Amino acid sequence: MTDLSQPTLPGALPDKRQVAASFSRAAASYDSVAALQRAVGMALLDKLPAGLAPARWLDMGSGTGHFSRVLAECFNDADGVAVDIAEGMLRHAREHGGARHHVAGDAERLPLLDGSVDLLFSSLAVQWCGQFASVLGEARRVLRPGGVLAFSSLCVGTLDELRASWQAVDGMVHVNRFRRFEDYQRLCGDSGLELIDLERRPHVLHYLDVRSLTHELKALGAHNLNPGRPSGLTGRARMQGLLQAYEQFRQPQGLPATYQVVYGVLRKPLAGEQ
Ligand SMILES: C[S@@+](CC[C@H](N)C(=O)[O-])C[C@H]1O[C@@H](n2cnc3c(N)ncnc32)[C@H](O)[C@@H]1O
Repeated sequence: MTDLSQPTLPGALPDKRQVAASFSRAAASYDSVAALQRAVGMALLDKLPAGLAPARWLDMGSGTGHFSRVLAECFNDADGVAVDIAEGMLRHAREHGGARHHVAGDAERLPLLDGSVDLLFSSLAVQWCGQFASVLGEARRVLRPGGVLAFSSLCVGTLDELRASWQAVDGMVHVNRFRRFEDYQRLCGDSGLELIDLERRPHVLHYLDVRSLTHELKALGAHNLNPGRPSGLTGRARMQGLLQAYEQFRQPQGLPATYQVVYGVLRKPLAGEQ
């Protein structure tokens, strides 16, 4: 997860092969720990314009295919395409049904023809893309005029408790970086797509202890992959420091982990509207 406030940050991009490998490894464990991802995807579905009847939908960054299966139920006559950068995720999704086609590909360079999709749905995937402007450009290219892009993502403020706790221990990059909400606003505004809805909503999860949180991030494949992250195992003393530092955030429900979720719905203008 990259980009921060800059349009590009080439030195700080996570390597896409590592992103793909990490999610492929997580394919079997992902669904058992994906409560937040379920809630966010459902909230995104709720935001789809009423009466939408796509002939073809695309689930971009489809992961295990949970939302491909939901989309297939919502739009049962439509042709469904699932695209993901992680082959392991696609294999898992293919075995469980949902989309008719499962295609390996990158959201920044979609393996789809121009004007071939009516609904592009993407939940919690584009925070892994260094160039969100390229994602929007690709959405604009593959959508038919009148087609809808619905995405959710994460922005600055996500996992700040973990970030601050590590900062107190060694000042190194232990937590993925996120774009600012203002950058989502600016990039969506410049995309040539009509902005229907863009909002940020905090979701706070609670954990018994820090290990439960870090194990969950690993099971999701979403642990830190940024360049500059410390290599090797975390030493006992540093881990002890982390546990102590995180305690300052403890609430009656447990240790909080805040996710700042961005929800966006955009539409490709019809020819006469541009
Ligand atoms: C957190 S999972 C979300 C999966 C699913 N959308 C869900 O909500 O359960 C993120 C997914 O995005 C995929 N992904 C990451 N970067 C991608 C890229 N550049 N292009 C396509 N998929 C990508 C990952 O492989 C992973 O399967």
